[in-house]
Amino acid sequence: MSAAASALEPTPVVSSEPHPVNGYRAFRLGSFKFERDEYFAHIGWIGHNGKAMSHSLDAGDFLRALMRDLAWGFFYGWVNFDDVIGTLNHYGTVDLFAGTYNGNFKQAGVDLLENFPTEQIRATFLEMIQDWTNAGFDPFAAPQETGSPFGRKNGNNNAAINRVRELATRCVGLDGDLPLRSDARGAPINRAFRDVPQDEPEIHAEPGFEKEVHAFNLFAFLSRSQVTWNPSFTSVVKYSFMCPTTEEHKLPIIHGNDRVEWFFQMCDEIHWDCGDKNTGAPMARVIMKAGDMAAMPAYCRHQGFSPKRSMLLVWENGSPNIVYEIQQGAAPEVPVEF
Ligand code: PHB
Ligand code: FE
Repeated sequence: MSAAASALEPTPVVSSEPHPVNGYRAFRLGSFKFERDEYFAHIGWIGHNGKAMSHSLDAGDFLRALMRDLAWGFFYGWVNFDDVIGTLNHYGTVDLFAGTYNGNFKQAGVDLLENFPTEQIRATFLEMIQDWTNAGFDPFAAPQETGSPFGRKNGNNNAAINRVRELATRCVGLDGDLPLRSDARGAPINRAFRDVPQDEPEIHAEPGFEKEVHAFNLFAFLSRSQVTWNPSFTSVVKYSFMCPTTEEHKLPIIHGNDRVEWFFQMCDEIHWDCGDKNTGAPMARVIMKAGDMAAMPAYCRHQGFSPKRSMLLVWENGSPNIVYEIQQGAAPEVPVEF
């Protein structure tokens, strides 16, 4: 392993030479080891009881999860890659853990958690995803819309990995804000949404209010999403973030909440597995059909399964204080009490 550092690269990433046969580099972050081969990502660590541990994930599943964690800046709370490994965002630093939020691993004492400055884990994850993603595999795409993640190292797909998340500052389509999607902007209508009307609302603003009164066709906007399980911001009012997304196959992470979030199923359906965020113990199965709304309490983790491409509106409370208000008991873990 060598640390590649230069004046321009203040955060050293620790990695090996490419493997002589499969071509992938191995990475080290703190005492965690990451390796990939033709089919799997392997993570190694020493459990806090001293036992040498290893854990393997399908390479495609690992890269899809890694992509979300990076693209979302470690997200709100926990990003579980599966029921063993994941990250917990402290907004400035990030925990990387293995088994810490798995009731059985924890009880056996084979868990490990280490904390890193956000930039250090980000830089390591970025080099890892660049090295481990082959040409033709897009970790944001639905499995039916991308090539294979498997095999020996074969080029890269940096164009897909470096996609910028689409975040409106006020509202999609407002002057100077995130533009509407179109064929010309490289956003054709998805195969599943050919029947979605593309007309836009007429806006008749009073003189002087042209920059304040606004509307757009959200269904048309979503019908042109090129990615799955990657919420964009379509409107932002203070800390109220409307984050719609199109979903197909499964959410590549299991999200553990540090705040309440709401789901509105805009079409088709998603089946959610919900569990205890600390142990993973199953709590509920939520089948959401078109028009259904649900809220995920701050004490749960959840993963969605979308049998067909569907449209989901995620409503987030983006307040930087809410997580601490919940920890101190000043804000509730549930959206409503009956
Ligand atoms: C979630 O964790 O709540 C989540 C994340 C990404 C999505 C949908 C839901 O696309
Ligand atoms: Fe969530």
